[in-house]
This record gives sequence, structure tokens and C-alpha cells, in this order.
Amino acid sequence: MSNGDKPFKDKVGLVTGSARGIGRSIAEDLADWGANIVVLDVKQADCDKTAAEIADRYKVKAIGLQCNVVNKDEASAAADKVKTEMGTVNFLINNAGIIRDNLLIRMKEEEWDLVIDVNLKGPFVMTQAFLRLLMKAEPARVVNISSVSGLLGQVGQANYSSSKAGLLGFTRVVAREYASKGILCNAICPGFIQTDMTGSLDEKVQEELKKMIPVGRAGQVKDISRVVRFLCSEDSGYITGNVIRVDGGSATGI
Ligand SMILES: NC(=O)c1ccc[n+]([C@@H]2O[C@H](COP(=O)([O-])OP(=O)(O)OC[C@H]3O[C@@H](n4cnc5c(N)ncnc54)[C@H](O)[C@@H]3O)[C@@H](O)[C@H]2O)c1
Repeated sequence: MSNGDKPFKDKVGLVTGSARGIGRSIAEDLADWGANIVVLDVKQADCDKTAAEIADRYKVKAIGLQCNVVNKDEASAAADKVKTEMGTVNFLINNAGIIRDNLLIRMKEEEWDLVIDVNLKGPFVMTQAFLRLLMKAEPARVVNISSVSGLLGQVGQANYSSSKAGLLGFTRVVAREYASKGILCNAICPGFIQTDMTGSLDEKVQEELKKMIPVGRAGQVKDISRVVRFLCSEDSGYITGNVIRVDGGSATGI
């Protein structure tokens, strides 16, 4: 490692949905390598709390930014604010995501629309809003957090699986369109990771999902954030348009 073990010193990472869960862990791991951080989420107070804790623990600059990733105007205002307060963005991590599970026969149109909006339109809106900053940044990375559900298709997740599969297509387009501008874009497909999101599932469902993991344990947030950090590092400088499963082997063979 260079820069006194802080390879991301003076770099800026923005993680959507980073007030908690996987996003927070990503923000922490980037900060641990010296990156200044934008904690972006739906509630200002939650963003500020996480940002203050990260600034204190990792001795970096961290700001909280309230923004609904689906809202173009809010995303554009967020880009202006980040430019003013942080100067640039090197790492855009599209992590914000939601579930609204239901069997297809019962799935409401609102459940479909909301999940497709946040999980698929969100990364489009955010990436578009931050492209100009990213094109000027060195290095510049976009990492999209998809899901094995987007590869396998999960019962009860017509909306979620479709959104996450769509995100893989989006990843490949960004990679192809912006490689020549110096932006590398990859996706990660987490398997079952222990967070508030999965904690909200029925306990029996959680147990069944864990039984299907070859390595024999549920994933932890660090299992994902360490791979995101790798995808932001110099070591991954020749990887773009790729999809990395981080799932303890649960979708092996796909
Ligand atoms: N936990 C898992 O097992 C798992 C597996 C595969 C993929 N994922 C994906 O990883 C990502 C993070 O999941 P998690 O388990 O940490 O979830 P989480 O619910 O714990 O955290 C998600 C965060 O996103 C924020 N968010 C939601 N909608 C938003 C919006 N419109 N604008 C801005 N922020 C918004 C929430 O407020 C929350 O802080 C999601 O994209 C999820 O689909 C999770």
C-alpha cells in the first residue's frame, strides 16, 4: 500500500443508502483507507449521525447528505453540494435498495413500481447526476450493489429480482460508455447478508436461506464492503463491466 497505508487519501467516496447496513460498512472501509466520505440517505439526521461517527473514528472529512436516489432534482442538488463541499467524487457506490416481497399473483403495482424505482432508476439517476464529476476524477469508479436474486430469480421477488437483473445491464452499459473517459464500473451480487433488511424477513425464511449457503454461514457486511474497496483500488484497474458474486457459493454455477 502507498500513502502511509492510506491509499485513498484525498479521494472522495459517495455511498448511497449508507446511514446503515452494507452501505455504512462500505463507507467505513473506504474511510479506513483515507477517503473522505459522503453519507447519502433519506433522513438528514441519520446521515449526519453516521457521518459524524465515521469522521471521528477514521479522521477523515465526512458529510451527511439527505437525498432520495429516485429524485432527479435532489440528485442534481446533491452533486452541486458535493462539488462545493468535497471538490470531487472518485467512488460512486450505488447501494441504496429496498425489498417489497410478494408472490407475483398478489404483487401490487405500487410494490413493483417502488422497488424498480429505488433499485434500478435510483442508480441511473445518481450515476447520471455524478457523471461530470466522475469524468474529471482520477481514479473514477462506479460500483453497483445488485444481488444474487438478480441472477437466480427468487420466489416472491419478481420486482426485486427484475430490478437487480436490470442493474447488471446498466452496469455493463456504463462500463462500455465511460471506459474511454476513465470510469470503471462493476457490480457486486451479494448473497444472504445479515442486515436490518434481511432481519425483517420471516425467521423460517432466514433459516432456509442460510441452509442454502455452501460455506455454511450467513454473510456479514464486511464480506461485501471489502470487495467494494478492492473494486475502488488500484489493484482492480483493469476490471470493468464485471459482476462479482459475493455469496458464500450460494449461486455457484450461474
Ligand atoms: N442484506 C442482504 O442480504 C442483501 C443481499 C443482496 C443485495 N443486497 C443489497 O445491498 C444493498 C444494501 O442492503 P442492506 O441489507 O444494507 O439494506 P438496509 O435496508 O439495511 O439499508 C439500505 C439503506 O438504503 C437507504 N435507502 C432506501 N431507499 C432509499 C432511497 N430512495 N434513497 C436513498 N437511500 C435509500 C435506507 O434508508 C437504508 O439506510 C441493497 O441494494 C440491497 O438490495 C442486500
